Amino acid sequence: TATRAVPGVLDVLTYESKLTLEPDTIMAEGGFSQTSIMPLRGPEIAHDGQIVAVVVGDTFEAAREGAYALRVTYEAAQPAAGFDAPGATEVKAKDAKKQYEDLKVGDVETALRGADTVLDAVYETPTQHHNPIELFSSTAVWVDGKVTIYEPSQNVYGFKNGLAKNLKLDPDQVRVVSEFVGGAFGSKGSLHPRTALAAHAAWRLQRPVRLVLTRDQGFTNNTYRAETRHHIRLGANKDGKLVGYAHQGWEVTSRADPYLVAGTDTTAHMYAFGAVGTEVSIIHADRNTPGFMRSPPETPYMYALEQAMDEMAVKLGLDPVEFRRINDTMKDPISGKPYSSRKLMQCYDAAAAAFGWAARDPRPGSMRDGDWLIGWGCATACYPTSIAPAAVRVRLTSEGHARVQIAAHDVGTGLYTVAAQQASEALGVKVANVTVELGDSDLPPGPVAGGSNSTASVCSAILKACGVIRARLANAAVATNEGPLAGLKPADLRLTDGKIVSSEGKSEPLPAVFDRLESDAIEEYAENVPEGGDKDGVRKLYHGHTTMVRGGKAPKLRYSFGAEFVEVRVHARTREVRVPRIVGAFTAGKIMNPRTARSQLMGGMIWGIASALHEATEIDPGAARYVNHNIAEYLIPVNADVRDVQVLLLSETDTELNPAGVKGLGELGNVGTAAAVASAVYHATGKRIRNLPIRIDDLLEATA
Ligand code: MOS
Repeated sequence: TATRAVPGVLDVLTYESKLTLEPDTIMAEGGFSQTSIMPLRGPEIAHDGQIVAVVVGDTFEAAREGAYALRVTYEAAQPAAGFDAPGATEVKAKDAKKQYEDLKVGDVETALRGADTVLDAVYETPTQHHNPIELFSSTAVWVDGKVTIYEPSQNVYGFKNGLAKNLKLDPDQVRVVSEFVGGAFGSKGSLHPRTALAAHAAWRLQRPVRLVLTRDQGFTNNTYRAETRHHIRLGANKDGKLVGYAHQGWEVTSRADPYLVAGTDTTAHMYAFGAVGTEVSIIHADRNTPGFMRSPPETPYMYALEQAMDEMAVKLGLDPVEFRRINDTMKDPISGKPYSSRKLMQCYDAAAAAFGWAARDPRPGSMRDGDWLIGWGCATACYPTSIAPAAVRVRLTSEGHARVQIAAHDVGTGLYTVAAQQASEALGVKVANVTVELGDSDLPPGPVAGGSNSTASVCSAILKACGVIRARLANAAVATNEGPLAGLKPADLRLTDGKIVSSEGKSEPLPAVFDRLESDAIEEYAENVPEGGDKDGVRKLYHGHTTMVRGGKAPKLRYSFGAEFVEVRVHARTREVRVPRIVGAFTAGKIMNPRTARSQLMGGMIWGIASALHEATEIDPGAARYVNHNIAEYLIPVNADVRDVQVLLLSETDTELNPAGVKGLGELGNVGTAAAVASAVYHATGKRIRNLPIRIDDLLEATA
């Protein structure tokens, strides 16, 4: 009553409004949603920050005033906040998810018993929250029984289909538009029920409604990276060869959903381990459901493995680069399958040279500059190369203008640019004359912008459509009695500089070839299903489902690689930690655009520094509440924290990947960085910090 009395308040939705909204399953379990917890369905509250009411006003101020006037009463129950909390329940991943399997090669216990040296350590990573610059928002507009949603999204077809389920509509009644995305990193990959609330509110009022989460509301009404724990045992012989790798992982999830990242599926492929045994468990706690966050499995699991690798190198008295060289492998230690390409050690050598690693004195605390203790550390970056089906429409006009349409997504990574480059290259027209339309579920369906698959998937589909256009023009150019290309083989002709040209250099300008077709434009729709992919993949795309051929599951293993070297400076008295420089060398197949690639990798490494030294969501263990749910207290690196970042892109040609020849790299750069920083901190101080982030408090007792 108090809320409705506020001037400008138009509507109030609570569970008492008896909304007929339908929950969806989480994306990782085959649905489209971030969470299966549908707010306002009933009086139970599953976690802190769950939406309990939506107040709609004719201005933002009216809505906010109305929300402040709302009294919420509830009966409190004792929640379980996470690891080790009473009431939290543990489930083995293999029992929680049918596609998941623990990995086992040989007998790891016997191998570890027989090893000359064993490392046995526990590592932890904290909760991290997405804070893209653009807030999470949905705007819903109904016209003639159809709703259009404007929302930053990594998956417009998924959102369309998930929302249709939430609202009990036919998918044809829903359109999702997301032309530009102000930061995503997984946070906008799956649908949150709040979008359905916005759509429902708009339908009740029969006018457009916009719902924007405040920064703090984003912590509980969007996804996050849940805390992880790792027990790793590595066994090695005196010569430095690994003989066994055991990795137990634990991850927190919500009470309702079995969200699982299980990064052992990447770590177990990384080195010639000998025997392997992995096991992952999830811990159900009273939290919102976690979700995708840049390199979801790799970031926490590779952090643990790479710190363990550094610790083992120290134990063996080996240089950490040489230790990795000894255990480098060109085939998967799990399946025995070869890698399609793997230039990990070339990355190490290039980055080590650029960094000046040869000058390193391995003794902890031995490299000092006045009051600053200098530490140098390194680690491996990797990311599986995935490709998905994609459908695209390409139009070429006689004047040499092209248009590419696909419901893929530019999440700030540069897909608009890269798609234009690919079409320009294939059609022989200027990049400036290519228009790219993305992020609209009325366009042919593209894949979710997840798993770093977009460049490979979208460019491969563009090549296919452009190939058909080229063939039509080539056929017209040769099937004539006059003209410069008459009688030539159409397969020998290609498009370049606004002309169609033969291998001997004969050519005919585009307008002339179009005249032969008595046409001014060719428009082709093409579907690309990757080799080894689901034959039904494009049909599934129309229903919102992306079926990827994943790098770890392909006939040959496909991964992009990198090596990162970090210098830290730890102040001898204050223990303040600084990162004056970081160098990464990477291989990722064909680099479509060095500028966008460098930007992605640099951003990833900066995020890795953040993981090592800054980011953590603090949780009140009694109330299961996020305490620092704002970007004043949730620390992220600023310019002063990031000095010299060097990205080296090594050339790599791998013809076995996909027609475009690219490996994804959006999620490559931040993998391993935190381990490199932690290893550098050890080198500087002699203190091994296994729980992230590393703080001044952790280093007060350090000996160096
Ligand atoms: Mo990325 S976390 O796969 O959107």
